[in-house]
Amino acid sequence: MPEPLLTRDGRPAAELWPSSGLVHLNHGSYGRVPLAASRHRLGLVQEMEARTAGFMARAPERLAQARSLVAPFLGVEGDDLAFVPNASAGVSTALRSLPLPAGSEVVVTDHAYGAVRMGVDRAAREAGAQVRVATVPLEADADAAVEAIWSVVTDRTTMIVLDQITSGTARRLPVGPICARARGRGIVSVVDAAHAPLLLSDPVREANADVWVGNLHKFGAAPRGTAALVPHPDIADRLWPLIDSWGAPDPFPRRFDWQGSDDYTAWLAAPVSLQHLEDELGWEHIRAHAAMMADHAVDVITTALADRFDVDPTVEVGMPVDPIRLIALPAGLTEDPATLRARFLAANIEATFTNHDDRAFWRLSQHAYSTPADLESVLPRALDLLTGPG
Ligand SMILES: Cc1ncc(COP(=O)(O)O)c(C=O)c1O
Repeated sequence: MPEPLLTRDGRPAAELWPSSGLVHLNHGSYGRVPLAASRHRLGLVQEMEARTAGFMARAPERLAQARSLVAPFLGVEGDDLAFVPNASAGVSTALRSLPLPAGSEVVVTDHAYGAVRMGVDRAAREAGAQVRVATVPLEADADAAVEAIWSVVTDRTTMIVLDQITSGTARRLPVGPICARARGRGIVSVVDAAHAPLLLSDPVREANADVWVGNLHKFGAAPRGTAALVPHPDIADRLWPLIDSWGAPDPFPRRFDWQGSDDYTAWLAAPVSLQHLEDELGWEHIRAHAAMMADHAVDVITTALADRFDVDPTVEVGMPVDPIRLIALPAGLTEDPATLRARFLAANIEATFTNHDDRAFWRLSQHAYSTPADLESVLPRALDLLTGPG
């Protein structure tokens, strides 16, 4: 049984976050921002409202500094990354900046995040290009996944859009080998690494993609609306922000540091989340704790489900993700994920559920503040909620 994670001076990690009255079993969707970062951001908002013109005039310079503070957490330099609002915006940036030629093909997998897939479909439709979907079995290991993805690449393929960690199926994809092979064929690789920053220790280098974008507001616990876009140096100067503004004449990444009048406080506060959690807990410890807690939670929930429903809820996932895990829901449960999410939320439990390939899953996602006691406090009530409003 894992012990609760403690700060370096012995306080429960959970004290770094606001007490919400909820049990959080789904850090992965929207993250949770530690109190210190929210307070820092509030200070920035107050400063912005008190001296707006001065605040805005200094924003690009402060954003450049924020980039350089975030960069070490991704193993890059400050000028290697641009801030964008989220992973979706990062993929849209790539699609708009590197348009698909008419008659070309773009490859995605059947695990692609729904909203990103819609963006790829629209870009392809507008360009007169085709989308080719690779089917990657949930249990496929790295070699099998490379083969499955590469099997739909043709001479017309000009772009591959790939998740580093998939959303609904909580698995990794072998982005490194695919990006390397794509580069050898002159195919642009775009890695949607929404979940990867801080969850993986070196995700940018692992992918070595033409365009990589990861959310700092998921495992990184930065204020929402904060993602890092890291292009390969050969491609960087071809990327333009979705909003053309006064930064336009500047080189990458400075042209992303001013995208019109906006609230830049989340980007400015992002380094505070990353550094604060490093100082208080250490990201190595957070990753290890979240992995241990996820193992424990999967054990506890699968045992409870097996007892209650007489089923085997274990799921075989090739290239699994330590802190984000899948548990199969019993086949007879027919509620859609949104209904289950809302029902759990009404019972003060943040949890998420997904579907893939006609199978339904509980997608569990743990973090520094997760404890066995939290989990115990919601079982077996959570099992009741799977079958009815309770
Ligand atoms: C793989 C993947 N891509 C994109 C997103 C979208 O993230 P955002 O809403 O921050 O753009 C998610 C969100 O969970 C995701 O898991």
